[in-house]
Amino acid sequence: MCGIIGYTGTQTNRNVVDVLSNGLSRLEYRGYDSAGIAVADPTVSVYKREGKLAALEEALPDEADDALAGIGHTRWSTHGPPSDENAHPHTDCDGKVATVHNGIIQNYQELRDELEANGHEFDSETDSEVIPHLIERALDQGASAGSAFRQAIGRLEGSYAVAAVFHGREEVYATRYQSPLVLGVDDGGTMLASDVPAFLEYTDQVVYLEDGQFAKIRPIGIEVRDGRGALVDVSVETVDWDPEDAGKSGYDHYMLKEIYEQPRSIRECLRGRLRPLEGSILIEELDDVPRPTEVHFVACGTSYHASLYAARLFRERGVRTTAFLASEYDVETVPIDEETLVVGVTQSGETADTLRALRTANGIGAQTLTVTNVVGSSAARETDHTMYIRAGPEIGVAATKTFASQQVSLAMLSSALTGECSREFVESLRALPDQIQSILDDSHADAVAEEFVHSDAYFFIGRDYGAPVALEGALKMKEISYKHAEGFAAGELKHGPLALVTERTPVFALVNGDSNTEKMLGNIKEVEARGAPVVAVSDDPDLVEAHAEHVLRIPETHWRFYPILANVQLQLVSYWVAHRLGRSIDKPRNLAKSVTVE
Ligand code: AGP
Ligand code: GLU
Repeated sequence: MCGIIGYTGTQTNRNVVDVLSNGLSRLEYRGYDSAGIAVADPTVSVYKREGKLAALEEALPDEADDALAGIGHTRWSTHGPPSDENAHPHTDCDGKVATVHNGIIQNYQELRDELEANGHEFDSETDSEVIPHLIERALDQGASAGSAFRQAIGRLEGSYAVAAVFHGREEVYATRYQSPLVLGVDDGGTMLASDVPAFLEYTDQVVYLEDGQFAKIRPIGIEVRDGRGALVDVSVETVDWDPEDAGKSGYDHYMLKEIYEQPRSIRECLRGRLRPLEGSILIEELDDVPRPTEVHFVACGTSYHASLYAARLFRERGVRTTAFLASEYDVETVPIDEETLVVGVTQSGETADTLRALRTANGIGAQTLTVTNVVGSSAARETDHTMYIRAGPEIGVAATKTFASQQVSLAMLSSALTGECSREFVESLRALPDQIQSILDDSHADAVAEEFVHSDAYFFIGRDYGAPVALEGALKMKEISYKHAEGFAAGELKHGPLALVTERTPVFALVNGDSNTEKMLGNIKEVEARGAPVVAVSDDPDLVEAHAEHVLRIPETHWRFYPILANVQLQLVSYWVAHRLGRSIDKPRNLAKSVTVE
């Protein structure tokens, strides 16, 4: 999920190690927890370190004059915590092949068992290490480098961008499936990377590799083949990116880039966890967690909103469940015992309030579980169980793709722990990435933002599963636009907030055609009567059109999931309001990505 760089060139031209480490520093913006480089010389030499690139730089040789080709990697751990051993590149038993991998290999355990039974020895806990061993086995059976690479990739299930170097060879082999990889060509050599900025200082001539294609890059020239081995005619494109902006892949802000990454990050989150035929969900890492009798969620900010959403799902499945603000979690006043499952929901895994709450629960002997995006984070290390949301690194301070992945993860968790599921539930989860893509393709949230950018305040209302997302919509708006915004369970409007509603306070209403329509329409009429413009976010425009100034449309889904879709429209509205106001969107004033003080 993080960064790959590869290079091969004419020896006198550029130093392989320099090109790789420059590339890695240009990929730093993607976030990472460890990094490494391998160069093919007469043997294969690997340098890798947990932590920042500065740590890797110290480990690199001053000179690597006989290097022929090389690969580099920044890792965002998904399997095994950040450590020197788990950092990429990984090698085969004899150290003749080195590989880097971005993504997740779903069937790695099965492959690892098979390889270990054949006598292969592993050095890391990663899913990725199966790749060099698969290549080694094919080489031992007489395959050429290219064919061994293809055979190994053919065994993988999951998502991957992979690059490999072989001892004594000056080529780099690479492929991708649902993970980005682009090739760069210039007179001094050829390169490959997860993203153009990694090599933009050398060349703007690129070839975008497609899913399932294999590339062999040589010091001069590239060769691309399809899955069957047939040569593919590729076109070289010129990119005209300003290196300054290139890190955001052409988006003005990381936040917008991350909003647009949601189809992919949710796909990663779901990968390998859905059983469509049986209509069930299996979260392997939580296989041994029994059905809980009582659940406490502890979380802050956006993660708390995801917890409110999840608590409702658990309650609906008959489990006594409460979501607590972690800073308010006080075991003196909350009934808790060893049977209670305390779930910390924390994107970073480092939020002080959430850690304190989890530590208190641990102290009492309760079962603890962390739902997080960061492998090896404090919360993950300190609790009995961990589920990863696999959203990839999030750079913008405002949580966007991690919120969506938290909701999806917690929806899966509620089914996996209670055993209550259905085919419809699984199918609806499976459809979410494409549905979010269609929202991103068709949204006119920017026009809505333009119309209401100078409003006095913004209100967000929703019911049932929509209520937590109304809170989240308001949090996002205030966080990045610095404008007043409030979210309410719609039924609460008439108990106070209605006094604030005027013609200068647009109200964003989440209306789901299946479950809460009548009551929501009643609430919409309440605000309409006070002159407030209404923006309905709905899967049923016919229902709301008569009362709403605008309808932000979402596709039809299972009624428990409509807020996951509606939230994407609200993220876009907040983003475009803040953008028009010229705010510091990725680093809003007074806020930090990870709040490590109580
Ligand atoms: C939301 O945009 C914020 N980044 C903030 O509310 C955040 O969700 C909160 O600080 C909790 O962080 P965590 O998920 O890393 O624990
Ligand atoms: N799944 C791999 C690992 O945990 C690769 C992670 C990445 O994409 O950086 O090592």
